[in-house]
Amino acid sequence: MKISRRFTSADTVVDLVKEDYNILPVLSRFSLPLGFGSATIGQLCDQSGISDDVFLLIVNFLLSGEIDSQRMHHMSAVGVVDFLHNSHDYFLAYKFPHIRANLLGALDDSHTDINPIIVKFFDDFVHHVEEHFRYEENTVFPHVRALASDSHTAYSISTFTRQHDDEISRTLREMKNIILRYYDTSRPYRMYDVLVDICNVEEDLECHNIIENNILVPLVHEAEKRRHKDAAPR
Ligand SMILES: [Fe+2]
Ligand SMILES: [Fe+2]
Repeated sequence: MKISRRFTSADTVVDLVKEDYNILPVLSRFSLPLGFGSATIGQLCDQSGISDDVFLLIVNFLLSGEIDSQRMHHMSAVGVVDFLHNSHDYFLAYKFPHIRANLLGALDDSHTDINPIIVKFFDDFVHHVEEHFRYEENTVFPHVRALASDSHTAYSISTFTRQHDDEISRTLREMKNIILRYYDTSRPYRMYDVLVDICNVEEDLECHNIIENNILVPLVHEAEKRRHKDAAPR
């Protein structure tokens, strides 16, 4: 559910979670420790060494679907990269293995023909996402960090814009459709649970892409422009 309220650093994290508990996995990606007490977002970000501008921009975007372009002017792209890096880790090290284990547990013995195909769909999807993330981790994120620390970098974010795959969850969607259409099962609770997880991760990956395309890319474009201006002969 999209909300119109915009959170500020004076709001508490508990209020944020009350507004929409779907924000919980996002908090884990900011490395915010649990046990929030009555601390405000500003205080918690301060204690954890997180930029509250980055935190609020991303959280408000996920809750409302709108990007606060005013706040973007104050932000460092490195804070966004840290969040994206933690998100990659969350998907690969936690969420995908969790879904795979639940999927294997939900498969019905009466479907020996289709079961290996479903598992292969999922494994192909994970492999595709791993490659996608690897490029960002090895090429794009080092570029952003080099710009921020005034180090040499020959990359350009326009290369990323040209080749960024917006459909990384396509295989997952196909797999979900096969299950929905053809998979009658004696363990429906388990399979429904897997489907809910798949829908959540699809949506989560779409938001991840939007953050990369609509928040990270403009910030890096600005940083590149500043770098070229500083390097130009006067
Ligand atoms: Fe990414
Ligand atoms: Fe991406």
